[in-house]
Amino acid sequence: MKILVTGGAGYIGSHTNRLLNEKGFETVVLDDLSDGHREAVTDGEFVEGDFGDQELLDKLMTENRFDAVFHFAAFASVPDSVIHWSVSGKNIFGDETPPAFYRCRDECRRYEADTMK
Ligand SMILES: NC(=O)c1ccc[n+]([C@@H]2O[C@H](COP(=O)([O-])OP(=O)(O)OC[C@H]3O[C@@H](n4cnc5c(N)ncnc54)[C@H](O)[C@@H]3O)[C@@H](O)[C@H]2O)c1
Repeated sequence: MKILVTGGAGYIGSHTNRLLNEKGFETVVLDDLSDGHREAVTDGEFVEGDFGDQELLDKLMTENRFDAVFHFAAFASVPDSVIHWSVSGKNIFGDETPPAFYRCRDECRRYEADTMK
């Protein structure tokens, strides 16, 4: 099974990515390194980029046939999230509240990834 891990250079995502690889899953990590660390991505393929970049997302989804997406790309801190949200339109959901999550879910459906976590 092939899995897209967004925010996979961050705290939760990097551990998830490592565990998935230990369990034999193939992963692609998408992270813009705004708050993550490249060295935290110890396994799988790393792609540096913004989850909000629709063109990049399309390319990834087209080139890979993901079975699932683990979506961790977001500002984890609630206070930062609120500040960033007002400044950049991004928050703990990775974007303008629900839209990023729904967009990710819709992309999965569009490209027929079976599940999203
Ligand atoms: N850490 C916790 O205890 C905890 C608990 C419950 C829920 N969560 C949730 O889990 C998610 C991840 O939290 P975390 O603690 O791993 O945060 P983190 O900051 O360590 O990781 C988030 C990662 O997302 C990346 N990122 C942010 N915006 C991006 C974008 N637009 N495109 C691509 N990458 C982007 C950052 O560079 C970072 O590597 C958040 O939604 C958070 O609210 C975290």
